[in-house]
Amino acid sequence: MKFVNSYLARMQDYNKEHKLKYYIDTMGCQMNENDSMKYAGILESMGFEKGEEDNSNLYLFNTCCVRENAENTLFGRLGMLKKKKMQNPQTYIVIIGCLTQQQVMVDKIKKSYRFVDVILGTGAMSIFPEKIYNAIVTNEKHLEYLDMSNALDEDVPVVFDDKYKASVSIIYGCNNFCTYCIVPYVRGRERSRKPEDIISDIQKLAKDGYKEIMLLGQNVNSYGNDFDEKYTFSMLLQEIEKIDGIEIIRFMSPHPKDFKDDLIEVIKNSKKIARQIHLPLQSGNTEVLKKMNRKYTKEQYIELAMKLKQIPDISLSTDIIVGFPGETEEQFEDTLDVVNTVKFDQIYMFIYSPREGTVGARMEDNTPYSQKVERLERLKKLYEDTLPQLNEKMVGKTYKLLVEGKSKTNDNLYTGRTSQNKVVVFEANEEDVGKVVNIKIDSDHLWYLKGTIV
Ligand code: 5AD
Ligand code: SF4
Repeated sequence: MKFVNSYLARMQDYNKEHKLKYYIDTMGCQMNENDSMKYAGILESMGFEKGEEDNSNLYLFNTCCVRENAENTLFGRLGMLKKKKMQNPQTYIVIIGCLTQQQVMVDKIKKSYRFVDVILGTGAMSIFPEKIYNAIVTNEKHLEYLDMSNALDEDVPVVFDDKYKASVSIIYGCNNFCTYCIVPYVRGRERSRKPEDIISDIQKLAKDGYKEIMLLGQNVNSYGNDFDEKYTFSMLLQEIEKIDGIEIIRFMSPHPKDFKDDLIEVIKNSKKIARQIHLPLQSGNTEVLKKMNRKYTKEQYIELAMKLKQIPDISLSTDIIVGFPGETEEQFEDTLDVVNTVKFDQIYMFIYSPREGTVGARMEDNTPYSQKVERLERLKKLYEDTLPQLNEKMVGKTYKLLVEGKSKTNDNLYTGRTSQNKVVVFEANEEDVGKVVNIKIDSDHLWYLKGTIV
C-alpha cells in the first residue's frame, strides 16, 4: 500500500501556527530504530519540528517487549513525563510498537498512565497521522488495541539519523515461533517487501550519498518465501550488489536453519557484502535448542559457523540466552563449548526473560536467578578471553572502512568500523568523513583497534 494521507496536510496547517516539536524515544532492536526514522519522516511531513527531550510537545515512545527490562524502561520514562504534561498542556504522549501490541499492556497503560494520548501497535503507520491529528486538534484520544501488525506500508517519508549509513527493512514479521520469543505474536507473519521497492529505495539512498546499507528483518533469509515465484534472499543481495555508490552491504538477522550454501557463495563472491555475519546461536545444547524450537543441533550450528569462517577475514557475531527454563549446568557448558570452538567477535548475551503468551513461559524453571547471573558472567569472561586472539590476527593487515566521524572520547581522532564491524580509531581530517578509506591496523585493544589510513 502506498503511503497517502490527507491528515499530513491538515496537521501541517495547524503546525504553521503552533510549531509543535517532536521527540522520539526508541527502545529495542534495529527494526524499531528503522520504524522510528519513518515516524520521524511522517511527523516532519505533518509540520512538526525535531525537538529535544526537554523542549518537545509530542513524545513518541516506540516500545519493545522482547525482555522484561524493556517494559520497565518504558514505565520509568512515562512516570517522568506526567509532571511535564501537568506543567504544559500542549504535551502529547504517544506509545507505539511491540509492547502496545499486547492487550494486557494496553489495559495497564489505560489504568495506570491516564495521561497518555495515543496508543497504537506495530504496523499502524497508515492511521498514525489521523490519530495524532485527532488527539491534538479535536482532543480525541485513541487508546484502543488495533491489530495492524500485518500491514506493509510503502513510500513512507523517512528521516535518517546518519548521512552515510542507512537501514532498509526487507521483510517484516516472523513465522518461527521460537518458544522464548514474543516477536511472532506482536509483529505478525512474514511479509517480504517487493524486490523492486527495496531496490528503488536503495538506489535513492545511493543517489543521496549513502555508502552503507543494513538490510533488516527478523529472519532475512526467509525473504521471498511468501512470493508465488521463486525469489530468494541471495538473489536480492546480488541485485543490491549492482547498485553504484553502495559500497558496504550488511544484513541482520539470518536464522541458522535457513542459511544455505547459495547464500554462502554469494557472500564469498561479493565485493560489497560485509565480512561480518550475525548468526544467532541462542544455546549450544541440542536438547535446549529443541525446547527453544530452533530446528538445528549443536553440531549443525558448529558446522555452519566453521563453513562461514572459511571465508577470508570473516567475523561472526551471535545472540545467546542463558537460563532458558530447565537449562542444566551441563547444558550451559555446551554453550560455552560452542563459544570456545567458534570464537565470536561479538556476543549479545541475555538472561532468559519469560514472556507471557509464549510456550517458554509455561515451561518449568527451577534454576535460581542468581545462578543465571553467574552463568552470564562465566559466558562474558570466556568471550573476553577469546576475543583478543581474533583481534590480534587483524594487526598489520589493511581493511576497507567508512570514516564515520570524530571519536567520542578523543577529539583528535576519528572512528569507523571495518567490514568485520570492528571499531577502529585513527588520525584523519574532517574531509575524510563519509569516505571509504583503506586502514592499516597498528594495535589491538579489547573493544577497539588503532590504525593508520594508508
Ligand atoms: N529472553 C531473553 N532473551 C530473548 N531474546 C528474545 N526473546 C528473549 C527472551 N524472552 C533475545 C534473543 C534474540 C534477541 C534479539 O533477543 O537472543 O536473538
Ligand atoms: Fe523471535 Fe525466533 Fe522469530 Fe527471531 S526467529 S524473531 S528469535 S521467533
